Amino acid sequence: MHDLATKTDGGPPKPLRPPELSPEQLPQHVGLVMDGNGRWAQQRGMPRTEGHRRGEAALFEVVEGCLEVGIPYLSAFAFSTENWRRTPDEVRFLLGYSRNVLRRRRDELHARGVRIRWAGRRTRLWRSVLRELDAAAELTAHNTRMTLTLCVNYGARAELADAMATLAQRVVAGELDPKAITEDTIAAALYQPDVPDVDLFLRTSGEQRLSNFLLWQSAYAELVFVDTLFPDFDRVALWDAVVKYATRRRRYGAA
Ligand code: FPP
Repeated sequence: MHDLATKTDGGPPKPLRPPELSPEQLPQHVGLVMDGNGRWAQQRGMPRTEGHRRGEAALFEVVEGCLEVGIPYLSAFAFSTENWRRTPDEVRFLLGYSRNVLRRRRDELHARGVRIRWAGRRTRLWRSVLRELDAAAELTAHNTRMTLTLCVNYGARAELADAMATLAQRVVAGELDPKAITEDTIAAALYQPDVPDVDLFLRTSGEQRLSNFLLWQSAYAELVFVDTLFPDFDRVALWDAVVKYATRRRRYGAA
């Protein structure tokens, strides 16, 4: 975390103060793909896992940046339903690390007024990770300053498939008329139905893909891709992306 008044990065000093934007100019919900941890480590001759460790610090920088500028919802892609394809060692590391981060950081997040939530599929996810996610969610359930959704064992298509299965069960049980299914019915069956749509979809590391993250919720999101590898990302870089967002004109299909 920065305790200096400015950050230089080799370039001109940048103030460590959030941009002054009105609530209407700010994204209410930022969807964050924390990409580039592995490359960051490999470029330095370190194991990929070291990149994920540095990614933790970057994530907490982003949380601070959201708190300071006033963004109420942040969803971070920590482990995808596709990440099971990584080596067993890296899968073990990522899941064990997520569990430990939750255990180590939940009190600090609670003290900052952050509500922790989880979005993902239970199937296959370690019980110990689920336990920590549930404990953190319970501890912070009444916090209102900001909501941090950790997407662990999350995939947007899996989320939609699960929502469809829930609706199909309700149809079979005679509780739901298929003709009554609307966009709102589907949205209400998602993992975190009360979290608003994504306004700013942010991905680091120069990759310009959605990678199955919050697809339904990002239907009208502004996409911002930055070249910085995630371990080098910080609150100032977040604010730069937010300023970029604020200059975009959102039309939602209107002329
Ligand atoms: C993507 O980089 C990053 C991940 C798959 C894991 C993100 C995890 C953290 C930031 C650790 C903190 C976790 C929690 C739950 C708070 P990559 O490995 O795909 O990088 P690459 O594209 O350079 O290979």
